[in-house]
Amino acid sequence: MKVGIDKLGFYAPKTYLDLETLAQARNVDSHKYTIGIGQKKMALPSYSEDVITMALEAADSILDDLDKQSIDTVLFATETAVDFSKAAGIYMHSLLGLKPSVRILEVKQACYASTGALFMACDHVKVHPSARVLILASDVAWYGFETAGEATQGAGAIAMVVSAQPRIAEVFEGQVITENRSDFYRPSYSSIPVVDGKLSIESYKTLLKKVEMKVSFPYICFHMPFAKMANKANEILEFPMSDENLNIIKDYGSEIGNIYNGSLYLSLLSLIMKANEDLSQQTIGMFSYGSGAIGEFFTITFSNDYNKAIHRKHIDSMFENRISLSIKQYHHMMEFYQEREASSDFLLEDKYVYDHQKFVLHAISKGHREYKRI
Ligand code: CAA
Repeated sequence: MKVGIDKLGFYAPKTYLDLETLAQARNVDSHKYTIGIGQKKMALPSYSEDVITMALEAADSILDDLDKQSIDTVLFATETAVDFSKAAGIYMHSLLGLKPSVRILEVKQACYASTGALFMACDHVKVHPSARVLILASDVAWYGFETAGEATQGAGAIAMVVSAQPRIAEVFEGQVITENRSDFYRPSYSSIPVVDGKLSIESYKTLLKKVEMKVSFPYICFHMPFAKMANKANEILEFPMSDENLNIIKDYGSEIGNIYNGSLYLSLLSLIMKANEDLSQQTIGMFSYGSGAIGEFFTITFSNDYNKAIHRKHIDSMFENRISLSIKQYHHMMEFYQEREASSDFLLEDKYVYDHQKFVLHAISKGHREYKRI
């Protein structure tokens, strides 16, 4: 029985900061960010967006009536949770028109949770072949102004439907490596993560080195906290991929920044959208890493119809119609974001809604969030 990814959707906020602009403001040689770290832009959540609106946009772009009738499980992977009790996906349930009898859970293990969710979803579908599982991976990677991680920030969401008729790719069992590490974590008292940047890079590479890779793959998609990490990962492999192919899997990540749980799947989307060849029946590698730490290497094989299952025009137009922020606007927007996330009450002003948005965080009332389809 084939089980795997049937649909793949992506949403990034329209607003971004160019890393040349950031470098100038921070008095840093821009090549450090664009070459040393490999990033061009960072997507940033606008005034009416959060992890839930981004996940709503990504899911709404792929779900049809059949999905809505057959999805019986929603797994929301995030390390930017807005609540310690209520699962983020519950806020989405009626706005997406899902049926009443859906199990909705939030899952957490840094950037790896989405991959853990993918394997749980595959196992669920193997037992219930008519069921579909919606996986949401949505995060705001925010380290704070003038921090070492600032140049690697980003925001975005991936939505995937897992089914027994996987039109994008069949997913195969992976190799999991788990070790207790202190490279990156966010304790409950802190709104930003505690990060040992050098240790985190070392941990990522240490876990990857433990993977037994006996054959070469034309492409390997990586969890990409910043684009240069994919170079660092590729160069330690026994069978590295070509520079040309490496640039293809890195392309979207360098335009968006780190999106934590969605990052590996953004690399997959980059491959699907940018490859200059037909990927049908090709098997590729996927490496997922979540600090703390879990690494998992697995393979997927593209279906013959993978291209038809992607909304290419929608994704192209998202990348083409972005708004570049000044450093002043960046500061204003992210100060607003931090203040809103720390508030128990908030009411959105209409001027803060962009034309392309279908969902907004409309209000927060005694800490409970209200979302609207517009
Ligand atoms: N021109 C070209 N390159 C330059 C340069 C210049 N003028 N100046 C510096 N560089 C290069 C450096 O040589 C370095 O390259 P190498 O790594 O190949 O040696 C690169 O630019 C970065 O420079 P630094 O190491 O000095 O940068 P830094 O210490 O200021 O910060 C960072 C880099 C550690 C990645 C930091 O951005 C950070 O902490 N980021 C957040 C943590 C992170 O992303 N960790 C990744 C693994 S953890 C994970 O994967 C989970 C997750 O999603 C977070």
